[in-house]
Amino acid sequence: MASAVRFAFGPFAARRDVLILFCAENLKFGSAGRRIIARMGETFRRAAAADHFTGKNGSSLDVVAPVNLDVPRLVVVGTGKGDALTSRDLVKLGGVAMGKLPKAATAATIFAEFGSGALKAGQVADLALGARLRGYAFDLYKTKRKDDEERAPKKIELNFACSNPRSAEKAWSGRAAIADGVVLARDLVNEPGNVLYPGEFARRTSALGKLGVNVEVLDVAAMRKLGMGALLGVGQGSTHEARLVVMRWNGGKRGGDPVAFIGKGVCFDSGGLSIKPAQNMEDMKGDMAGAACVVGLIHALAARKAKVNAVGAIGLVENMPDGKAQRPGDIVKTMSGQTIEIINTDAEGRLVLADVLHYVNKRFKPKFMINLATLTGAIIVALGQEYAGLFCNDDKLAERLIKAGEAVGERVWRMPLGPEYDKMIDSKFADMKNTGGRSGGAITAAQLLQRFVEKTPWAHLDIAGTGMGSPQSDINRSWASGWGVRLLERLVEDHYER
Ligand code: BES
Ligand code: MN
Ligand code: ZN
Repeated sequence: MASAVRFAFGPFAARRDVLILFCAENLKFGSAGRRIIARMGETFRRAAAADHFTGKNGSSLDVVAPVNLDVPRLVVVGTGKGDALTSRDLVKLGGVAMGKLPKAATAATIFAEFGSGALKAGQVADLALGARLRGYAFDLYKTKRKDDEERAPKKIELNFACSNPRSAEKAWSGRAAIADGVVLARDLVNEPGNVLYPGEFARRTSALGKLGVNVEVLDVAAMRKLGMGALLGVGQGSTHEARLVVMRWNGGKRGGDPVAFIGKGVCFDSGGLSIKPAQNMEDMKGDMAGAACVVGLIHALAARKAKVNAVGAIGLVENMPDGKAQRPGDIVKTMSGQTIEIINTDAEGRLVLADVLHYVNKRFKPKFMINLATLTGAIIVALGQEYAGLFCNDDKLAERLIKAGEAVGERVWRMPLGPEYDKMIDSKFADMKNTGGRSGGAITAAQLLQRFVEKTPWAHLDIAGTGMGSPQSDINRSWASGWGVRLLERLVEDHYER
């Protein structure tokens, strides 16, 4: 949802609103903060001692009506020992600070300095990014609000006091593009299936046109012409028709090969005729988190005018059981010409991606393809919700993804691929079958995808554990995480801009 947080950047000066300072271990403040604390005399040390606050990373101290200061409240957030604070730490601290704002606050001033000194422009922007992500809430359908719910700030102004406000503001414009991309992805994932079906998803994606993105929407007839029998088979049991959306952002060298991102967009996954149990089936409205990430990423790249040619392609379907639905035992023909025997209609994501991967590869000849998909429950069994599964046919691309993930805190863990696993999806009746049995379920799913990428460098991120239902963190309180936008944005920024 559109953010009601306003960000402003100015010089170091306390105002009459909530004041947020940072301090390192042993109550070590920067020079601007030290001057403020000095005004409180002994009371600051007494408050800190009473609360056993020493400045440990992520901890905080709340002083209401601080003596001799013209502010209603002083919040001190600890940064710990760290002079070696990374961008990821800064984003987190921005989230912590935002989380400390009382419900009633309409404005706050954040002193952007640590014990080691004033922050650089990019660091200030990272704090702001964390604050923005923490401030996100999906409350579109709440008509009432309980008192104890962490509020999405109705309207709040965050003033960042810093040593070079103009360059901080400039750095923020780039980070704001990324924040908007994450928020867009979260909104899409949080929306229920009755609202966000393929046609509506495609319409919302078309809004990227405003940023200079070229958006094409292919309907069922167009996909039939292309021979996308696997994608269409998944959607045929739903009254909501399938769509394929192709986004192109051309900020790089004219005619240069693009990088390509592909998303699984199953707007609701009932399992089809191989229907899922009722327990937690409602979570399957989020089975389009891969597609949401791709849209958020292209938004971010376009909004900050990234110097890259990027393609985003999302296969949008609803997997439902009805008289027209696909059956176990059916054999479908993919656009690539390869055939797939359907063993379980609930293994539908790989069918959608098989056609979209082939289409993107043939049409765009990309430098690499990265697909994101809430593909398997098996990846959650393997990795929980901390890491996404990474399957990759290219060591350099894998290395870059792992590094980018560590840098932004969206981490990926590399999983194996190999001929022994590939054999497990050979079929008696067709070129392959869509499941490989219980063991290695995340891997055999990846093997099927690999059969549609040929020699192109490719990575598959299985985000079933990270894309939704995430544990609450300092930078996210919502069910949807928007996972992957910051990771891939960092990958592009670090390696693929001209
Ligand atoms: N969308 C699910 C995977 C999933 C499960 C995502 C839980 C998020 C949370 C996927 O389409 C699916 O149903 N996979 C099956 C595959 C099986 C039938 C081979 C699974 O993981 O059980
Ligand atoms: Mn499924
Ligand atoms: Zn699914």
